[in-house]
Amino acid sequence: MDKILVLDFGGQYNQLIARRVRANQVYAEILPYNKISTQEIKDKGYKGIIFTGGPNSVYDEKSPHFNPDILDAGIPILGICYGDQLMAYMAKGEITSAENSSEYGKTILFTEKNVLFEDVAEKSICWMSHTDFIKQAPEGFRIIAHTEKCPCAAMCDESRKLYGVQFHPEVTHTEFGSEILRNFIFKVCECKQDWKMSDFVETSVNKYKEELAGKKVLLALSGGVDSSVAAVLLNKAIGDRLVCVFVDHGLLRKDEGDFVEKTFGHGFGINLIRVNAQERFLSKLEGVTEPEKKRKIIGEEFIRVFEEEAKKLGKIDVLVQGTIYPDVIESGKGDSAVIKSHHNVGGLPSVISFEQIVEPLRDLFKDEVREVGTQLGIPHELVWRQPFPGPGLAVRVIGEITKEKLDMLREADAIFREEVINNGLEQSTNQYFAVITNTRSVGVMGDARTYGYTVVLRAVTTDDFMTAEWTRIPFEVLGEASRRITNEVKGITRVVYDITSKPPATVEWE
Ligand code: XMP
Repeated sequence: MDKILVLDFGGQYNQLIARRVRANQVYAEILPYNKISTQEIKDKGYKGIIFTGGPNSVYDEKSPHFNPDILDAGIPILGICYGDQLMAYMAKGEITSAENSSEYGKTILFTEKNVLFEDVAEKSICWMSHTDFIKQAPEGFRIIAHTEKCPCAAMCDESRKLYGVQFHPEVTHTEFGSEILRNFIFKVCECKQDWKMSDFVETSVNKYKEELAGKKVLLALSGGVDSSVAAVLLNKAIGDRLVCVFVDHGLLRKDEGDFVEKTFGHGFGINLIRVNAQERFLSKLEGVTEPEKKRKIIGEEFIRVFEEEAKKLGKIDVLVQGTIYPDVIESGKGDSAVIKSHHNVGGLPSVISFEQIVEPLRDLFKDEVREVGTQLGIPHELVWRQPFPGPGLAVRVIGEITKEKLDMLREADAIFREEVINNGLEQSTNQYFAVITNTRSVGVMGDARTYGYTVVLRAVTTDDFMTAEWTRIPFEVLGEASRRITNEVKGITRVVYDITSKPPATVEWE
């Protein structure tokens, strides 16, 4: 299998680069610059290397460097940003930093004919983020692009297949970024498209078969996409030695607990322990109205229940976490082990000790995790599940959480979701759900006066959930959902639709 090495010099886009390469069905792996030598790179048979960006300046004593013999190893290299400057530095070019030489954001790029820029317009937009720049390209290199401020926005030494770009081809803001990466992968490195997500499954299964031989492994399964994919993957590798604990805190959506049990326990034959802790959570939440307090109680209780179950199992060697790459970025921890708290609501159990934490999805983005899930045969409805907050319906019950309110909410939410799906609107909204308020109002049904709760329907359209637009669900669909909810759910007498975006509102009500 042809593969590209992404040599990491500390850039924030290193994973994105690997993902862009993999999107072209070519395998890419990332290694820190100080964990491999030129000889090892040669021995491993990489078809090409990408030097990533990084926050440093090449002349800084502490900045990451690499042995210049890599330039003569006969392997094509693409240097990006810091990687470009480093290549120039290693080949004895001149890098400098001048006042007003910084470029940040969208910049106009002028390119010259070259294999790297095949199918790239002579004038296009690129994404820059630098202060230093290459003043003088090294001997043997020629300049193949410039911008208004940057005399050497790209350079190459065709005889050695060395290419450097000051801008970031991996970000979508670079108009021809995909073409440039593709030209490097296929025209310069001559890679074959012989990598598929199923290879990730196979490689991971083989790896964990070996790494976890004879070990007892525990995973907290929430039924969310990440923990589900991690569970099925590990189950494939080590079978019954993986024990999944699924804590049903009673704050799940309609029929969700049974669905998880059916899918994983029966369907995939996973060694699954379902803990029915609904009563326990409800009693802890009794009388609590403050949202943060609700979250804290649920998080703590979750850990207690999980610990109790784990203890019953005896010695556990390994804990599996469904951490995915965006969690690693969010935590800002980079290399170091990142602990994704179960359901995002608590921390790691403190009473149980593990020798090791395994994070099989740590290098993948959400869409890649979904693809792995599909490869593993996880049902579509689970793989494409909309996000659901860790504390579950607790943040959608305003005021005190009671069984009565939870049951009403579950029904109303199920009806709304059904209407959205049945009307083919699932793809046009990213999250859609119901909230039960603490407001009761007067209604009339038949000849009788009613006094019931108000339910809010909410649907948002968003890329990243940091900002969101309220989704324009057609009135007819909202009308039908409202009619059904007030007819079918006893205790709900009014339905409203939330037309606030984020900001100023948030997606959830609490
Ligand atoms: P907000 O309400 O902050 O929500 O605009 C943004 C996204 O995050 C989800 N969310 C949570 N997820 N634990 C989670 O795991 C939480 O406590 C939590 N609060 C909000 C929310 O559903 C939306 O997708």
